[in-house]
Amino acid sequence: MLSQPYGSGNMTAMDLYESLTSQGELVRTLKTEKAVKADIDAAVKLLLKLKADYKQVTGQDYKAGCPPLESTVLEDTGPAAAVDGEDMVDPWNVSTTSAKGVDYDKLIVRFGSSKVDQELVDRIERVSGKKPHRFLRRGIFFSHRDMHQVLDAYEKNKSFYLYTGRGPSSEAMHVGHLIPFIFTKWLQDTFDIPLVIQLTDDEKYLWKDLSLEDCHRYAVENAKDIIACGFDVNKTFIFSDLDYMGASPDFYRNVVKIQKHVTFNQVKGIFGFGDSDCIGKIAFPAIQAAPSFSNSFPQIFKGRKDIQCLIPCAIDQDPYFRMTRDVAPRIGYPKPALLHSTFFPALQGAQTKMSASDANSSIFLTDTPKQIKNKVNKHAFSGGKDTIEEHRKYGGNPDVDVSFMYLTFFLEDDEQLDKIRQDYASGALLTGELKKRLIDTLQPMITAHQERRKQVTEEMVLKFMTPRPLDFNF
Ligand code: TRP
Repeated sequence: MLSQPYGSGNMTAMDLYESLTSQGELVRTLKTEKAVKADIDAAVKLLLKLKADYKQVTGQDYKAGCPPLESTVLEDTGPAAAVDGEDMVDPWNVSTTSAKGVDYDKLIVRFGSSKVDQELVDRIERVSGKKPHRFLRRGIFFSHRDMHQVLDAYEKNKSFYLYTGRGPSSEAMHVGHLIPFIFTKWLQDTFDIPLVIQLTDDEKYLWKDLSLEDCHRYAVENAKDIIACGFDVNKTFIFSDLDYMGASPDFYRNVVKIQKHVTFNQVKGIFGFGDSDCIGKIAFPAIQAAPSFSNSFPQIFKGRKDIQCLIPCAIDQDPYFRMTRDVAPRIGYPKPALLHSTFFPALQGAQTKMSASDANSSIFLTDTPKQIKNKVNKHAFSGGKDTIEEHRKYGGNPDVDVSFMYLTFFLEDDEQLDKIRQDYASGALLTGELKKRLIDTLQPMITAHQERRKQVTEEMVLKFMTPRPLDFNF
């Protein structure tokens, strides 16, 4: 039986599971009894720490009522990639103890990226001649690498291309998954440039307890939701790794080049891999890196290796691209530029991002208007006061209120949003009214998505996923 040092003694996966279960109960009790905040915070902090440890020891997310299986227990998975005080962000974990969510300014410092400041937003507006997307106006895409360089080149008529992706771990996508795609669509329309979208079915097979065929099927199903975001088939190539890796000698050549230039020690440092991780995981980062280089797609870029790549992604994907940028000059390629987004909060609060495996943590793209209404009303964490009288007197806190956070993602009108913030903070707007605003915003948005998805035929999916030239001359 595996054991991992924890605290003073040696804790097994089962010990951790039991501690987690009782710690979870403690947090719930403290909350229902309205204990003092410091006590609740301390209990939540320990809970998150136990969850992170549990994941490290078992390789699985903790699930109440599901004790760890012997067969899924991994040994010695090494240190987590990024732990800083309370926030923890790596490609597999996001957690914080603050209700406002992760401290993104700290993350910029820790990751060594740059802030998307007003100057950059203004510059994007000047260069593109378009009003900046609300995700830029509101700091949702908050961090970047080399965006000024991309714009310098663009001003000199040097084009670039977009690369983003998704790990298809289930058929069910939620609204949070759409954030990078909504923004990527805007970038594509704004700059009129090619886009490649990687579906990492191989990654999900390596990390999750899923069959290869299921992962591939999810990739194709997810492609339909991505296509429903409105991408232009003449400007977009979507690929499953399981299909494209074997079909493209140029892509595989880049994978091998990258693999030769990254050591086990480096990926251990970046991703926290350990001696017991399968070698597929250790080799995978090269596969996520390869689409950052234009000659991985000779059909689109006519073999050119010097086309600059821009990657819009959530900040948790940055470790892959730090590695990519480190390798690029050593194998003769330009470094990809990046635009990083914040996380989309779970309905229960901004401490963590949403999980596709918990139906109540998020709004799914398949939810009915009624389900949306019920989920928001029942589960959206509120920054309001307990009674109407108190709320009117002291006002609510929009900074921790999940309905308000969701509106910052989806309500287009800046003035309306600002008024909602002010009215909620002053107490003029009640929690129920705020929730109604969100429901009224989400319902038509999700219905419209569902209608567009219905129009996506198998032939369209096949066309998007066929390697072919796009409408650009390189
Ligand atoms: N690893 C990502 C995930 O699990 C998928 C992905 C692959 C990706 N390439 C990307 C995401 C490029 C953003 C940008 O979701």
